[in-house]
Amino acid sequence: MKITILTLFPEMFEDMFRTSVIGRAVEKGIAEVELVQIRDFTTDKHRHVDDTPFGGGKGMVMKCQPVLDALASVRTDDSYVIMTSPAGNRFDQQKAHEFAGKDHLVILCGHYEGMDYRINSHVDELVSIGDYVLTGGELPAMVMSDAVIRLLKGSLAEGSAEEESHENGLLEYPQYTQPADYNGDRVPEVLLSGNHARIREWRILQSLRLTEKMRPDLYEKHELTDEEQKILKKAEKED
Ligand code: ADE
Repeated sequence: MKITILTLFPEMFEDMFRTSVIGRAVEKGIAEVELVQIRDFTTDKHRHVDDTPFGGGKGMVMKCQPVLDALASVRTDDSYVIMTSPAGNRFDQQKAHEFAGKDHLVILCGHYEGMDYRINSHVDELVSIGDYVLTGGELPAMVMSDAVIRLLKGSLAEGSAEEESHENGLLEYPQYTQPADYNGDRVPEVLLSGNHARIREWRILQSLRLTEKMRPDLYEKHELTDEEQKILKKAEKED
C-alpha cells in the first residue's frame, strides 16, 4: 500500500520511516511512503500557508488553496483521504485494520489554530487519536501510519500481530524474559514448565483477568469463547 502524508513538517517523519519495524517495511517495499510539503503549493512571494480568521479571533487558519492544491496533486481514484483533527472519529485497532486495507491512504496533517472549514468537504474522514489537543497533525499521522504499516503482511513475523493487545478485544497476557529470578522476583512457574497446554491456558486466563481489571469497558464488550468460559470456570474452582 501507499501512504501519502501532506504536512508542513515532512522532516519530522524521516526518522520513523527509517527505523525499526516500520523502517524495514518501507525498505522492503511493503509500504510506500510519500511526504509532501504543503508549502510547495503556495503561489505568493512569501509562501504563506495561513491567514487570520474571518470574523476576528486569535491565531491563524490554514488556507484552502495550498492545502487543496497539494491534495489534488496526489489524489487518485484509489485514494482514501483522512485529515487529523481532535474533532474526528476515534482511531483504534479496528480503524487501523480498515486503513491497512486501502490501496492509497492520504493523511492530511492539520496545523496551527485550525484549517479553513471548507477543506473538510474534500476529505473522506476526519480522524482523532484521542481526547487531547496536539499542536499539529504530525504526531497523529505518525501514530496512525505506525499502527497501519505494522499490520501489512510481511511487516511482522507471521502470527505475532494476532496475539497482541486489542487484536481479539482483550489486553495481551504478561510476558517475561531471562533471568527467571530477578532479585527475588520470580517468573510464574508455569512458564518454566515446558507444558504448552498449561501455558496457553495460563495466558488466556491472565489476558482475561488483566482486561477485566485494567479495561472493564473492553471486558464488558468481549464475548467469551467456549475455551475462555471453560478456563474461567476451572480457575474459579481452583481459587
Ligand atoms: N490534532 C490536534 N490534536 C489532535 C488529536 N488528538 N487527534 C488528531 N489530530 C489532532
